[in-house]
Amino acid sequence: MRIKIAAGNWKMNQSYQEGIHLAQEIIEKANPQKDELVILGCPYIHLKDIINLSQEKTNIKVAAQNCHQEKSGAYTGEISVSMLSSIGVEYVILGHSERRQYFRETNEILSAKVKGALSSNIRPIFCCGESLEIRTEGWHIRYVKNQLVKALFDLSPEDFKRIIIAYEPIWAIGTGLTASPQQAQEMHFEIRKTIEEHFGTSIANNTSILYGGSVKPNNAKELFSQPDVDGGLVGGASLTSESFLPIISALSTPKV
Ligand code: PGA
Repeated sequence: MRIKIAAGNWKMNQSYQEGIHLAQEIIEKANPQKDELVILGCPYIHLKDIINLSQEKTNIKVAAQNCHQEKSGAYTGEISVSMLSSIGVEYVILGHSERRQYFRETNEILSAKVKGALSSNIRPIFCCGESLEIRTEGWHIRYVKNQLVKALFDLSPEDFKRIIIAYEPIWAIGTGLTASPQQAQEMHFEIRKTIEEHFGTSIANNTSILYGGSVKPNNAKELFSQPDVDGGLVGGASLTSESFLPIISALSTPKV
């Protein structure tokens, strides 16, 4: 069964107190259905306490926003997957365009991070997406497919099954510009087709592919109604319960 997911990405926002308060509101008020999952991608300082707070609600989880590819060692300021798993973290956002851009994370580094996370039983939410320039030049589908092939396609089918994909066109992140539901559907369809060609129909049909880039309460339903859009990775609108809760509810929008 394909799980629908509303994942929040708080990025570098929220003090300890603000984050806990926000998580409490969401945990109390969100009501994800059996085939739905809410994931709060919060800063490291919040992870452990939100895991504790969400114990009672089995379909609300947390994600770290990064991890290092090495198991341990002299990497000042970094965090390892075994540290994350030692406090019960089950998901990690990897390959976000901000990390690719500002921290020079390449497909090769991301491939190592993905494998490291999976080896500690942490499921990657793997982000991909093209710049405006690439879309304007018309090779966005090829570009995104290549990101997936380079970072994910040498995984075993068993490991790949545990990946969640987030398609986030860079031009739509934090800009207020959203991909149209048709643009999102087109890319998600292509992503699923590529997965099918490599890993087979059953794995492709069961992979959750999220859309990210200015998902808001007023566009979530239309985006999530697309056949291959299985929810969203949400930045700005995940920072208040007023805007994130309706996005969670939009997961149950019927497909067109
Ligand atoms: P946004 O961010 O919703 O603020 O555009 C999405 C993301 O970066 O994951």
